[in-house]
Amino acid sequence: MGVMSASDLLVSCEDAARTYGRGSGAVVAVHGANCAVKRGDRIAVVGPSGSGKSTLLHLMAGLDRPTAGRVSHPGLTGGTLSQLIGIVFQGPSLLPPLTAAENVALPLRIDGVPEEEAAARALAALDSLALHGLADRLPDELSAGQAQRVAVARVLARRPRLVLADEPTGQLDSETGRQVMTVLLAAADEVGAGVVVTTHDLQIAQELDTRWHMADGRLVSSDVEGDGAQ
Ligand SMILES: Nc1ncnc2c1ncn2[C@@H]1O[C@H](COP(=O)(O)OP(=O)(O)OP(=O)(O)O)[C@@H](O)[C@H]1O
Ligand SMILES: [Mg+2]
Repeated sequence: MGVMSASDLLVSCEDAARTYGRGSGAVVAVHGANCAVKRGDRIAVVGPSGSGKSTLLHLMAGLDRPTAGRVSHPGLTGGTLSQLIGIVFQGPSLLPPLTAAENVALPLRIDGVPEEEAAARALAALDSLALHGLADRLPDELSAGQAQRVAVARVLARRPRLVLADEPTGQLDSETGRQVMTVLLAAADEVGAGVVVTTHDLQIAQELDTRWHMADGRLVSSDVEGDGAQ
């Protein structure tokens, strides 16, 4: 265990806030959040529906910009944020005209991975999530839970340095959910990635090292001393 260097700090939120709308109709989805994710971190974000979990995740991903405060990624160098951060979205996110395997391979092709290698990595990722038999199916021909696992495979195939997964087990039974978490954490271990998972499932949350609690847009507490959330 060495001293943390800037290169270990994958994302840092300093008083990062996100307000939707203006005036009397404004909704503060996230109040000034202070938190950090480092290499190797395993964080669960828990809290009631509407408490701001997805909004915080999108801020950390750089998909959304804070309306106040700052989000930075000092340790994510050597590529674009979209290459270095893998996001599993809460809702359906597969492209309907592409098969499961093509959906997983597409981001690799965009990154410049040759076609054959992209196809092989896509199949391996599907395989790791017990989906090899479904590689040629279209998203319409998958159950919601199968589609969610393809979305996880799509992220893992890319070997991102920061994995942000929004309810990745929300459509899964507890046994399959646990398997997906095992695969996701093992893949993250291989590259020393940081992992943040939002979840309503307390059993899943317990499998991660740290829990951040959100309530009414505030990051209210974290249950481990000295970790990233304040
Ligand atoms: N595009 C938007 N426009 C206006 N309000 C929004 C928008 N997106 C989210 N919100 C509001 O921001 C708050 C936080 O939403 P968010 O999706 O981050 O919650 P969540 O904790 O992820 O909920 P869930 O557990 O249901 O996924 C909610 O009050 C929500 O209604
Ligand atoms: Mg959400």
